Amino acid sequence: MSTVAVLKGGRSLERNVSLTSGARVQDALERLGHDVVAIDVGHDLVSALRAAAPDVAFVALHGRDGEDGTVQELLELVGVPYTGSGVSSCIRCADKVLSKHAFRDAGLPTPDFFAFSEAAFKQLGAADALPAIEDRLDFPIVVKPARQGSALGIKFAQSAADVPGALVAAFSYDGKVLLERHVRGRELAVSVLDGEPLPIVEAIPRDEDFYDFEARYEIGRTDFVCPADLGDDMSTRVHDTAIAAYRLLDCQGFARVDLMLDAGGVPQLLEINTVPGLTETSLLPQAAEAAGISFDELVGRVLDLAVAGSSV
Ligand SMILES: Nc1ncnc2c1ncn2[C@@H]1O[C@H](COP(=O)(O)OP(=O)(O)O)[C@@H](O)[C@H]1O
Ligand SMILES: [Mg+2]
Repeated sequence: MSTVAVLKGGRSLERNVSLTSGARVQDALERLGHDVVAIDVGHDLVSALRAAAPDVAFVALHGRDGEDGTVQELLELVGVPYTGSGVSSCIRCADKVLSKHAFRDAGLPTPDFFAFSEAAFKQLGAADALPAIEDRLDFPIVVKPARQGSALGIKFAQSAADVPGALVAAFSYDGKVLLERHVRGRELAVSVLDGEPLPIVEAIPRDEDFYDFEARYEIGRTDFVCPADLGDDMSTRVHDTAIAAYRLLDCQGFARVDLMLDAGGVPQLLEINTVPGLTETSLLPQAAEAAGISFDELVGRVLDLAVAGSSV
């Protein structure tokens, strides 16, 4: 039995999802017999951690701070072992420009893209390069902020006329954006636990052609099929791509890899989430369930991996 600090909430736009993930993790840890200290992450994080002096921290934060290496860096400094990936892995996974460059450099499939900072548009005339980008990527083009989650700020530009508005929307979330080739195909998520892939989840939106923020969290607006009906060979191919990405970015403990399966049967990597959702409707717990791993067992294993893998 250990004293576990559950870090949840925080100031990210995914605060509410994190509060739900965190509450569920707390219940599981208590059922497993641990002493739990819940910390809503804010300006007093460091002093709260020092006061609680936990044996380990369970990071149940999504998005900014909790998934981008910031909180992980503080945990290293305070000397508290924590769940999930380390600082450098979190930094690279949270930034889609960094992770997509890493995938491309390693020869892993990811949709073609171009990335720009807001300064490039304001000070270097990047807008003049848009026609060349549009020629190379074809429409629709996916415009997305580099560091954001839950489909926030993502727009599909159907024509050149849509691009400026989509860029403004994406820049409202981050100073760096990507323009990415749209993949028409099946949307898949591979959850990984301790380096091993769990059954693949396919997300099938019911009535919208975009799997948006609302659809993701409201039960009934998206159908999730797990295991996805892909056949053995394709499942292996998708698993192999996801595990190669997980290893490339040095993820630890658990993660969820999002992909689009293109018309040629190539699993195209979109991103890796280093702190995947842990709510009732989240994909990683569903995938674990399909593998016969209950939520409590999942939480226990992620915690054990934190303690086992700790370098502090
Ligand atoms: N290149 C793309 N082609 C088709 N759909 C995409 C593409 N990029 C993103 N999407 C859609 O947007 C969703 C969110 O994109 P993703 O890159 O995973 O960012 P987020 O961090 O917001 O989850 C995806 O699950 C998918 O439905
Ligand atoms: Mg995603």
